[in-house]
Amino acid sequence: MNVQNITPAHTADATTVEEGLAIQERQAAFDSEAATAVAMQNTLLTPRFYTTDFEELDAIDVSSVREDWDQLIAQMVADPNKGHFRKNEDWDHIDWDGMEPGLRKEFIDFLISSCTAEFSGCVLYKEMKRRGTNKDVTQLFQLMARDEARHAGFINDALREAGVAVNLGFLTQKKKYTYFRPKFIYYATYLSEKIGYARYITIFRHLEAHPEHRFHPIFKWFREWCNDEFSHGEAFALLMKTDPKLTSGVNVWWIKFFLTAVYATMYVRDHQRPEFHKALGVDPDWYAHEVYTKTSKLSEQIFPITLDIEHPRWQPNLERLHRANVQIAEGKAQGGVGGKLKEWAGGAKAALAFVSLFTIPANKHRVPESTRLEPVY
Ligand SMILES: [Fe+2]
Ligand SMILES: [Fe+2]
Repeated sequence: MNVQNITPAHTADATTVEEGLAIQERQAAFDSEAATAVAMQNTLLTPRFYTTDFEELDAIDVSSVREDWDQLIAQMVADPNKGHFRKNEDWDHIDWDGMEPGLRKEFIDFLISSCTAEFSGCVLYKEMKRRGTNKDVTQLFQLMARDEARHAGFINDALREAGVAVNLGFLTQKKKYTYFRPKFIYYATYLSEKIGYARYITIFRHLEAHPEHRFHPIFKWFREWCNDEFSHGEAFALLMKTDPKLTSGVNVWWIKFFLTAVYATMYVRDHQRPEFHKALGVDPDWYAHEVYTKTSKLSEQIFPITLDIEHPRWQPNLERLHRANVQIAEGKAQGGVGGKLKEWAGGAKAALAFVSLFTIPANKHRVPESTRLEPVY
């Protein structure tokens, strides 16, 4: 019997990351160059691939959070979402050719960027699992990689119907990896899991109330999806809890930096997709504020500060950052000396706007004894 016959046929049924990736490897023959090229981009705004000091990560001792840890792992091992991430009778037919071209372009861009982000998590978690020797750590990372492989595979299923798909095997080998020290991986990944939860659940609840705006079936899967991201975030909160230094002293500045960078990136990225948000019936400013509010509430479980998103400098500087980003894109498209000057001027404006956001005094609060949270939104 060869491997091909014993691995399940769909990524939704894969019980390990290796199975999930083997299935996607076989589908890669149909994947498109254009979508993969978009996923290969490395700019400040596109999802990146990360690598870290795996030995340092492997040395974590979770005994101080053992009870919560075991409970979380047991829940992930039980695997309530096995088989969920596949097209079934709830999957409505999509008339991609009939879709308004502006929306089609932005939606495909959204799917490619989401798929790359899911896969970025998969690659990092899988590598940690492969390199580690610490049973707690490797087990956690194996489980998280399993989930992210399913998520990426499912988005790729949706993309294939539009005639494009990302070649994930190619990305693994060819996309540039950014090195982050483990503590930066914790801050960045914790936040991206929690903001991912907040983003998915906010869209899901909105479409529950306004089903006429659900222009694609994938949104129906967002509730179970965000529960996976919620658990991943919980795991990183526990990892950070094992070492109080990570969330105190000078590191609070790093936390503030990551909070500002993650929130600002989301704002700029979402505002690049006006047609997509119009089709969803979502005002991107309202959406950003809603997602920040939820993420801040959640991150109080481990971070001693939250950003003051009600501060008078907050919204105007997000808008300034967005306009600067538009100017940079225009400069790039224009080319030549004039284009370069425009790009630099945009870059300088963006930097000033970011500093202005970063220097808004943060809200401080006491962090609870236990990090444990349930997804309540
Ligand atoms: Fe995911
Ligand atoms: Fe995740």
